[in-house]
Amino acid sequence: MGIVIVDGREIEIGDGERLNGIQAALRAGIVIPHYCWHPGLSVAGSCRMCLVEVGTRDPKTGHVTMLPKLAPACNTPVRDGTVLVTNSEKVARARAMVQESLLLRHPIDCPICDKAGECSLQDYHFQYGQPERRADLRPFSSRRRDVAANITLFVDRCVMCGRCVRFCREVSGTSELMVVSRGAHEEIDVMPGFPLDNPLSGNVVDLCPVGALCDKEFLYRQRVWFLRRHAALCGGCASGCSIWIEENQDRIWRIKPRDNALVNQWWICNEGRYGFGHVHSDRRLTVPLRREGGTAEPVEWQAAVAELPGRLSQAGRLAAVFSPFLSVEEAYLLARFMRGIDPEAVLAIGPIPRAGSDTSFPGGFVISGEKCPNRRGVEEVLAGYSGAAWRSGPLVSFEQLLGQLEAGRFGGVWVSGGYPTDWIDPPTASRFRGLRLLVVQDLFPSPLAEMATYALPGSALAERDGSYVNRHDHLQSVRAAVRPPGGVRPEGTLFWELLGRPGLYQASNVLREVAAEIRYFHVAGGSIPELGLNLKLNLLAEGPGAVARSSQSAV
Ligand code: FES
Repeated sequence: MGIVIVDGREIEIGDGERLNGIQAALRAGIVIPHYCWHPGLSVAGSCRMCLVEVGTRDPKTGHVTMLPKLAPACNTPVRDGTVLVTNSEKVARARAMVQESLLLRHPIDCPICDKAGECSLQDYHFQYGQPERRADLRPFSSRRRDVAANITLFVDRCVMCGRCVRFCREVSGTSELMVVSRGAHEEIDVMPGFPLDNPLSGNVVDLCPVGALCDKEFLYRQRVWFLRRHAALCGGCASGCSIWIEENQDRIWRIKPRDNALVNQWWICNEGRYGFGHVHSDRRLTVPLRREGGTAEPVEWQAAVAELPGRLSQAGRLAAVFSPFLSVEEAYLLARFMRGIDPEAVLAIGPIPRAGSDTSFPGGFVISGEKCPNRRGVEEVLAGYSGAAWRSGPLVSFEQLLGQLEAGRFGGVWVSGGYPTDWIDPPTASRFRGLRLLVVQDLFPSPLAEMATYALPGSALAERDGSYVNRHDHLQSVRAAVRPPGGVRPEGTLFWELLGRPGLYQASNVLREVAAEIRYFHVAGGSIPELGLNLKLNLLAEGPGAVARSSQSAV
């Protein structure tokens, strides 16, 4: 263990821990301003915003010797006895000079810049800049250049931190962006005919500390101070990336990666970033319908909740299809409900959407080919209910259920959909014909919903509280980011009411129940999962190191 002194405060660093000055200072609660450094990229040490005084304390005498010149904290590895001074007059002067030089040629177009309100240049200017501008204002210039289908570059706003260039080299491995020209004429650019075009390209917008790289989807559509940010989970694939959903009055405007060292580090893919259109689609089902004699009529939710248990119990042998978009809690409640009516009800997992194989990037990021967030969680709930350990007992797949349907085994079936795209075609839906009762809860109209006795509007992942387990057995619990459209009753609430449980549905309480009943969800050390946690399951299989990793929370 070593001791580093930052502005007179002593902090401990572990043996073998490799921290730079910025990271060490953060540990002491001190933020050193920086542009070019990012924890997920190599160190460039080019912007000089992080200049600090650096010295060494003699372990024997305690005498401190300071270097005569300032050094970039991002490029200064700390070790036992390192002394950093971040709050001296000398450091303040250096920061002000860096700010002044960056602003000499920076267009002052904050009123129309998307980054205003979350811009490091703006924030640092107020915090560390010169009190007055000493140079004449130049004529306004803000050249714009499209570098990608989804991204535009405001050339003159760039502070040449180079994060975007390093990202394309080190993380996506595609190297589309580069620096052209030299000195004061340096610019970011792409080769003609070779635009920025990779599945992770949107991350360069997040990396840009100023408003140089902007997302065309978001450009000029919202001011950032109107947005509320919610810790959420991407449902686009089985990687289960941690994200921020940013919304204004229940309308999602953008999705950003949320740092999670255990899952996605600092990044998300474009598919997840732009994959929220379905939440606000005009096609959403919003009225519960009951079909009698071929005619579908709207039905009050209260009436549907009152009727469904009785009608299911009269239907004969039951089956339920569990969408891999259901949360752990919802799958558990639906399983309880169906098995409460018919103890031998068949519980099958719905179709697992796939798109090729996994895509891996040099930086370690992986886009899963399995396009749903909770196959693992739903499987484990169903395995728990089947009374078999998952690895020793096969689950009923959707295909197997279809086979049993055709054999006329069932009288009533509950189907949960929730897929963001159309998921069932007419020939597959026709295999559900002939049932006494078919209940479908889904986001969109479908051939199956059209023949359902009850077609119930379902909610999107962003609209519900719940927990999801990714393909590496990593459980994340999140809260709803937006309210569902009027007329929609989220799955958890509906199942809670169908079970006749008192009070309101609370996913965290259900998760405790799941953890108590199903071994897979037991968390090592006897702790009980709660919403907001970020946990590795299957810890026993992973060994004691996994327990330590599981205690980290990214929320
Ligand atoms: Fe250290 Fe840029 S952050 S030089």
